[in-house]
Amino acid sequence: MNAIPQGAAAGEVPAHVRNAKLIDWVARIARLTQPAAIHWCDGSQEEYERLCQRLVDAGTFKRLNPQLRPGSYLACSDPSDVARVEDRTFICSVRREDAGPTNNWVDPGEMRQLLQTGDKALFRGSMRGRTMYVVPFSMGPLGSPISHIGVELSDSPYVAVNMRLMTRMGRPVLELLGSDGDFVPCVHSVGAPLQPGQADVPWPCNAEQKYIVHYPETSEIWSYGSGYGGNALLGKKCFALRIASRMGRDQGWLAEHMLILGVTTPGGHKYHVAAAFPSACGKTNFAMLIPPASMPGWKITTIGDDIAWIKPGADGRLYAINPEAGYFGVAPGTNVETNPNCMRSLERDVIFTNVALTDDGDVWWEGMGPAPAHAIDWQGRDWTPELAATNGTRAAHPNARFTVAATNNPALDPAWDDPAGVAIDAFVFGGRRSTTVPLVTEARNWLEGVYMAATMGSETTAAAAGQQGVVRRDPFAMLPFCGYHMGDYFRHWIDMENRLRGLGSKLPHIFCVNWFRKGSDGRFVWPGYGENARVLKWMIERIEGTAQGQANFFGVSPRHADLDWSGLDFDAARFATVIDSSAPQWIEELRLHDELFARLSPRVPDELQATRQALQAALES
Ligand code: GTP
Ligand code: SPV
Ligand code: MN
Repeated sequence: MNAIPQGAAAGEVPAHVRNAKLIDWVARIARLTQPAAIHWCDGSQEEYERLCQRLVDAGTFKRLNPQLRPGSYLACSDPSDVARVEDRTFICSVRREDAGPTNNWVDPGEMRQLLQTGDKALFRGSMRGRTMYVVPFSMGPLGSPISHIGVELSDSPYVAVNMRLMTRMGRPVLELLGSDGDFVPCVHSVGAPLQPGQADVPWPCNAEQKYIVHYPETSEIWSYGSGYGGNALLGKKCFALRIASRMGRDQGWLAEHMLILGVTTPGGHKYHVAAAFPSACGKTNFAMLIPPASMPGWKITTIGDDIAWIKPGADGRLYAINPEAGYFGVAPGTNVETNPNCMRSLERDVIFTNVALTDDGDVWWEGMGPAPAHAIDWQGRDWTPELAATNGTRAAHPNARFTVAATNNPALDPAWDDPAGVAIDAFVFGGRRSTTVPLVTEARNWLEGVYMAATMGSETTAAAAGQQGVVRRDPFAMLPFCGYHMGDYFRHWIDMENRLRGLGSKLPHIFCVNWFRKGSDGRFVWPGYGENARVLKWMIERIEGTAQGQANFFGVSPRHADLDWSGLDFDAARFATVIDSSAPQWIEELRLHDELFARLSPRVPDELQATRQALQAALES
């Protein structure tokens, strides 16, 4: 760890840093942003603790009661900085049409002027009075052929400590980088320079200006004005999805918003499932699921909970790694019944953001369990259940999160860190839909599965700033994360079929699920969470060729008798309300598919248009 005074940046680099490109780039960014000091992160536990103490001293962190929550902290953000900002996220490809109509686009020259090169460029002097942290990280197991290295320069110590939990971070990455290794440069500033003598605030950010910017052709990320989650932890959505999706398209692999789980059957067979659900739609929960007691012998283990990088192997199978090393998960709704593995992961060494602080120095959030009689809410105000009942005030922000290392997870798969990855047997796609979409449907072939994923809709959630509960198309759960034209992305997925067949392989099965159908009382009909194991079991038995189902106009769904109901009272009438696909609703649904295709025209693959017509015909017959 070296703290280097301003003006000495270029010369005083730690002796173990040998990469000329890195040294030069750090010096250039320091000249632009003018930090008061530079700190090269080594990733050690000692450094982590020192930075956490610095955050406590600055008022950003509160240390939680070490008896109740050892090694853990609470951060509460500025109320204007609580989620990803999709309308401030830009894909600055050279040509506008390569970003496509679902991404915000600005000409790269213009954006560089605004951020870097203009007289009033936002990054000019943006780190004044702050320390710039140099955070070297590997997305994926160190040295895996599927992994890639990034370096984030950030003026937020909160980002530095979160990156240590979320990625493989520090000195081993610099060693791997060597003298001429390549990395994705990521520049992050909270956009709140300090004048000499100016006091800092607990959560610096820029309320007026936020820019989350990607240059896909040069694989660069520039993020300004926010310190929260995916806006600031640049290895995650910015690199591992937006930049990596584009790398994957060019190089023949996939970067997906998917959890990866292992499922072992009572017969001892192990399968791997990758599942894409939009933000705050159940990936972490599905990845850590514990099957009900009435399903003895079924076991689920976690490889990843949010992102998958997937490459075809020489045998034609798809091998997936989790590029991350930790979880940045949704706190509200998490409890010992819904997700016991997650609650155990959160027992120690956690950074909580925007949850409530209890009087005994622990944390609480809505849906965690019995409410405390009094707490301090995420905005630092007194909170009581009575107050909540009268004015609806929430103790925790709906997008409150925890950051924790994967190694805290008791259900962690032994292969989670395997550089070779795990072979995928099934893809699952699911949205949050109170109507229309059945509990589970299996695609009859690859193309039908791609169509289902491409046209998926989901209700918006608190994970992104903006209106919530509005159904929007979220193709492959990648709407906010695809770094190029969505129509080209569909083409990439369609082409994967021939590529894999050419290698002589059996393709993964594709399923579509919806845990979120609601009854006329406005409540979820399907119990969800651990009970989703019943659906997973049906999927595995479909792969094994033993489970039955019934074809409907767009795939195969189970009848009541086709699922295992032992230990759960869920009769055929109730089941009908989560599995039915009503023709009037689907006529409207197909109209929404048309809207999406019209928007993406002329880059929608013909195969998908043809599938659309076939569905219409099947629906009418
Ligand atoms: P991101 O981290 O934003 O990508 O979210 P995620 O997809 O990992 O979602 P997560 O598992 O954190 O769940 C988000 C919210 O949905 C939480 O409040 C969960 O309690 C809730 N949820 C998850 N699974 C289910 C389910 O099967 N049924 C119901 N009703 N709610 C669920
Ligand atoms: C999501 O929004 O899908 C997340 C949280 O996983 S964030 O890291 O903020 O993107
Ligand atoms: Mn996510």
